[in-house]
Formats: sequence, C-alpha cells, structure tokens
Amino acid sequence: MRMLRKIFCKKGKLCLRDYAHMADDGFENKVAIVTGAGNGIGFEICRGLATQGASVLLNDLDSSLALEAAEKIGAEGGICQSFPGNAGDPEFVEKMVAEAVTRFGAIDIAIANAGITTYGSFLEYTVEKFQKLVGLNLQGSFFLAQSAAKRMKEQGTGGRILFMSSVTGLQSHPYLVPYGMTKAALRMLAKGLVGELSQYGITVNAISPGAVGTERTIGDDPEFEVSWSGATPNGRIASPEDIADAALFLASDKAKHITGQNLVVDGGWTCTSPVPNLVIPE
Ligand SMILES: NC(=O)c1ccc[n+]([C@@H]2O[C@H](COP(=O)([O-])OP(=O)(O)OC[C@H]3O[C@@H](n4cnc5c(N)ncnc54)[C@H](O)[C@@H]3O)[C@@H](O)[C@H]2O)c1
Repeated sequence: MRMLRKIFCKKGKLCLRDYAHMADDGFENKVAIVTGAGNGIGFEICRGLATQGASVLLNDLDSSLALEAAEKIGAEGGICQSFPGNAGDPEFVEKMVAEAVTRFGAIDIAIANAGITTYGSFLEYTVEKFQKLVGLNLQGSFFLAQSAAKRMKEQGTGGRILFMSSVTGLQSHPYLVPYGMTKAALRMLAKGLVGELSQYGITVNAISPGAVGTERTIGDDPEFEVSWSGATPNGRIASPEDIADAALFLASDKAKHITGQNLVVDGGWTCTSPVPNLVIPE
C-alpha cells in the first residue's frame, strides 16, 4: 500500500499531511469516480483515494484542469485518469461509468461531488439559472448514482455512493435558497436509496460541509476565510482535506454499516448558524 506524504504551501505556510493513519482503509484494488474534481474538495478526495491505492477517474467540466489535476496525482504515485465532461448530463455520466469499468475493470466508489453554487434573490431567480442548478446538483448526482449502482449490482461486490450536500440544505441562508433546496434533496436521495440498494451491499451517504476554503470560495471573496472563521464556532473554516477525510471514511470498508446518513463537517456551524457581518438594527 502506498502511503504518501504531501507537502504544499498555502498562503506562505508549509503544510504537511500524512495519510498513513488511514492506511487500513483498503482502497487497494478499488475503482472510484469523483465528479467536479479539477480542484477544491473533489481534487482532495481523488488525491486521498489514489494515494491509498484506488484507481480514480477524475472528472471536471474544464478539460485542461482535469488533465492537470490527474497528472498532479499521477506524479505523486497515484493511479488517476482524467475524464472531462459535463457531470450534469446523464448520457455523459453513463459513458463515464462505462469508461471506469473498461479502463479499470469495475466501479466501487461513485462520488457525486460536482455542484454549482448560484446566489440570487428568490424574487428575481430565472428559469435558466434554476434549470442549470438542478441539472447539475440533482440530475447529475441522481444519474451518477443510478449508473454506478447498476454496475455495482451486476458486479455483486457492493459499493459506496456519496453525495456532496451542504449545510445550506440544513439551515436557511438568504440568497442561496435554490442551492440549499438542491442540497437538502441530496440528503433525502441518500436516505431514500437505502431501501433499494442495501440488498446489493451498496451504501449511500451524504456529506454536508460548512464553509470550505477552496479556489472558488477564496477566489470569489478574499474575505471568505476571515468572515467565515469568525462565524464558525471552532474558529476556522474547513480545508478541502477536512472534507476529503470524511469522504474517505464513508467510502471505506470501516463505514460498511453506515448508510442513508448525512455527515455534517462544519466546525459546529449548524449548531448556532451565525451569518458573518450580520448587522442587527437598533
Ligand atoms: N466550498 C464550500 O464552501 C462548499 C460548502 C458546502 C458544499 N460544497 C459543495 O462541495 C462540492 C465541491 O465544492 P468546491 O467548492 O470544492 O467546488 P468548486 O465550486 O470549486 O467546483 C469544483 C469543480 O467543479 C467543476 N464543475 C463545474 N460544473 C461542472 C460540471 N457540470 N461537470 C463537471 N465539473 C463541473 C468546476 O470546473 C471546478 O473545477 C460542490 O457540490 C459544492 O456545492 C462546497
């Protein structure tokens, strides 16, 4: 089993990370697909799976980003192949699952990570925006789970399906209502599939991250880390690795008896739910 230590610099800080403590998780000979994984949370999930022995198909809409990400993981010793395309398109998703089986021999882990976050006032929200949001966050996640589950059933070796939900699917957040609605639906999808997929040894779970520092969140808002650290009870935002750790656990054999659940990884945010920079009128 490969156990790699990765070293990277973030905002001038040297960070060391060692996956050796999770070496018993048994991803050797496992095949995984992760969508929307060119950067952020999905990328760290791919990196974690591949460095622990899984063969990973890394998807992103942006083909050069997907290729670069897969090459980076390959350079660290992981088996990772890019498969660019729209994870919201059921036909593409079916092809992606077929590719995992053709290239690596099976599909054991499917992680519907790709999701778009569209802000907007409820009163102004357009049909076009709504359809794009639902097309990826719900349609893409639903059909990845379906395509993967069909293969897992045929294989007869069980499997793991994970949906990337969000704390905004648990607590109300102004101007993120349609997004939060899709994320709440993913929790119900995980719960709902238990009745049909448990008989095949397939577990289905969701993860609900709180504020996570990714290329997108920090790129969109330079104050993201400061404001959300202040609004999070444990005083920090999550790193993509914090979420990847949760995903790797749920994808591992250690989580074989956990299904239909939603794992909240938010530093306690949903317990108090403050919104940063909230001004309370006199
Ligand atoms: N970052 C956070 O604070 C946070 C919090 C809660 C939940 N989430 C959820 O976690 C997941 C990942 O979030 P993130 O911030 O790491 O990702 P992100 O928004 O940075 O996107 C990651 C990648 O997804 C790709 N992508 C976009 N549309 C796609 C499509 N149609 N098909 C395939 N790839 C596509 C993008 O090119 C990008 O490289 C999302 O589902 C998001 O809703 C994120």
